[in-house]
Amino acid sequence: RLDNHVKLVEVGARDGLQNEKKSIPLATKIDLIERLAKTGLSSIEAGAFVSPKWVPQMNNSGEILEHILQHDIPSRSPLTFSFLAPNLKGLDSASAILAKHPTAFETETQRLASAAAEGSSGPHKPALEIAVFAAATESFSQKNLNCSVATSLERFGEVIRAAKDADLRVRAYISVVLGCPFEGYDVNPHRVAEIATDFLEMGADEIALGDTTGMGTAPRTKDLLNCLRKAGIRNEDIAMHFHNTYGQALVNTVVALEHGIRTFDSSVGGLGGCPYSPGASGNVATEDMVYFLESLGMDTGVDLDAVADIGAWITNEVGKPHDSSVGKAVLAA
Ligand code: HMG
Ligand code: MG
Repeated sequence: RLDNHVKLVEVGARDGLQNEKKSIPLATKIDLIERLAKTGLSSIEAGAFVSPKWVPQMNNSGEILEHILQHDIPSRSPLTFSFLAPNLKGLDSASAILAKHPTAFETETQRLASAAAEGSSGPHKPALEIAVFAAATESFSQKNLNCSVATSLERFGEVIRAAKDADLRVRAYISVVLGCPFEGYDVNPHRVAEIATDFLEMGADEIALGDTTGMGTAPRTKDLLNCLRKAGIRNEDIAMHFHNTYGQALVNTVVALEHGIRTFDSSVGGLGGCPYSPGASGNVATEDMVYFLESLGMDTGVDLDAVADIGAWITNEVGKPHDSSVGKAVLAA
């Protein structure tokens, strides 16, 4: 992998929409995912198999997964679609749908083989990924998952084992790594490193470090990544998930890039927020990330004009302010 290649994980269809009070039509969500698929993105978070009592907006994620499996979604590059699962019940719901369409997707082994077969062109079946999500603090774990961090890790151990047995890729989030809405800046980076180590030992393929509240600053980002490095966690196993509440996401991105991280999450139009994180705004906008990374000579493979159009369209559909400076500038130019 070239050192200047950055993988962007588009989380707008899940993190971006989950907090919307008004139910967004299934057709709009599918339209969003299909539009994003054409921009050159390689990884799209598409839904969450969570309790509809906790996050009602994600309640039609099963239909989204069905749609993905039943249609050849045109894309510029091989695509991985990701779905959150907080427990075995969530994974079972996803697995039941996958079992109905066993040849409509690539397992992780097949995806890796396709990726290794250089120059393989033509249509690709999508790959599927399951995402679990723990927290670095006890308060956030209780609010988001209704259990302690230790209990959540036991449950996630089961989910990860079952997902790996089904040959699915697994992403493991750790939330509030740089600040917690309930415990402030008192988040212990060593605890983050412990949880990340546990997740990797359970078989997770990637650790996504969530700055859920956007409280992270450049020095704190650096300290956290140094702590993970000392704990033996490899850069290639880490993704950064910056929310932009305090406007620090791009600065923190530079710190992570210099540290050697090459996978970043973003949300088209800057959509988003977390239902259990009061006041948190969206993830850093995909448009801002693409423009910024390319200005540094990095290659994202993503078409900026195309994502700018989608950002304007979806924020209008959802009735949200268009939260991408670059998106607005590109469209005005
Ligand atoms: P609980 O209430 O303790 O669970 O919630 P329970 O087992 O008592 O179940 C309660 C009800 O939910 C039952 O239904 C279950 O069947 C049902 P009832 O019998 O009352 O009719 N249920 C489910 N339904 C569908 N799918 C499921 C499921 N599980 C139980 N998987 C639970 C515990 C974990 C379920 C709940 O707390 C939950 O769903 N939490 C998810 C919250 C969430 O989705 N938060 C947002 C995503 S995380 C995030 O945004 C952060 C991130 O972006 C990174 C960052 O920014 O840091 C990833
Ligand atoms: Mg988030």
